[in-house]
Amino acid sequence: MIPSIEWTAENKVKMIDQTVLPHKLEFLEFDDFRAVANSIKVMNIRGAPAIGVAAAMGMALATIEYKELGKENFLKKMENAANVIRMTRPTASNLFWAVDRVWKIIVSFPDNPSNLSELVIEEAKIMAQEDINVNKNIGKNGASLLKDGDVVLTHCNAGSLATVQYGTALAPVRAAIEAGKNISVIADETRPRLQGARLTAYELHYDNIPVKVISDTSSGLLMKLGKIDKVIVGTDRVTSDAVFNKIGTYLVALAAYDNKIPFYVAAPTSTLSLHETIKDVTIEQRDCSEVRNILGKVQIVPDGVECLNYAFDITPFRLVTGVITEDGVFTPEELLKKYKA
Ligand code: MRU
Repeated sequence: MIPSIEWTAENKVKMIDQTVLPHKLEFLEFDDFRAVANSIKVMNIRGAPAIGVAAAMGMALATIEYKELGKENFLKKMENAANVIRMTRPTASNLFWAVDRVWKIIVSFPDNPSNLSELVIEEAKIMAQEDINVNKNIGKNGASLLKDGDVVLTHCNAGSLATVQYGTALAPVRAAIEAGKNISVIADETRPRLQGARLTAYELHYDNIPVKVISDTSSGLLMKLGKIDKVIVGTDRVTSDAVFNKIGTYLVALAAYDNKIPFYVAAPTSTLSLHETIKDVTIEQRDCSEVRNILGKVQIVPDGVECLNYAFDITPFRLVTGVITEDGVFTPEELLKKYKA
């Protein structure tokens, strides 16, 4: 797959518009941090690592806009830009991690050096490249869990489109196939935004990786019938007691547990937030129209009936077989031992 986001030679942020996939492969270009923030909010770009990089690039655009200001005004404006970006989506750690990482550079100089904005642009580009490297390592580590002929179930899209490139949950699949194993994927459609049907299916098909789409309610039966060997999902945030990921992940984990099927979570360390517990995390609630209407087009709920639209759910550690990071594969206990300071 082509990168989902990049910094252009003209100092613009270029991204695939994921709202129009799979019907059209279109690109958006922004030179204003407010527009980048909006693109995160309306999910032109989505997926925890990808929105982290978008956030960093949005901050870089703001430094260009404000570079002529004196230190005090510059900092005020940048604080506002950081808040606009932070307010876009509440659940994925990467968004906050990325803004904080750029912020450290911004405040590290007593006076703004004339090249501060170049330094921030450079950092955002480094973060994009790091994301690809991290994903490749997740792929290598996760591929060792897959054997020839395995069928892997995934939920939502934690692939190339959810990152800069290569993906997290789909990285082990890609790496195992690159190593010559015969692996296929079953993708949950992932109501209401249909990231599985629209995006996971699109990118795997694009790369000639065998994929079948199922309705979200089918995975339990397929596990019972012995048609799924492993589950690999991505995550938006890992706390010291649970994994937050796309709504529906918890039910997949329960079904996997009941059917003794390994349930793995692919998590770059930028997603780890192990100083937190479940109660510290805000689960995003999106507009009910996403549930009421299929992709904003066909209304499926009667007029006058309310809907609930929680975007993520919580899978407790007891249901997680292993967490695949860029450093290795860890049980939840091992993960805490390795990364919790
Ligand atoms: O609402 P989305 O599409 O941003 O949700 C994405 C997911 O839940 C992914 O599984 C998660 O961000 C990991 S992406 C590598």
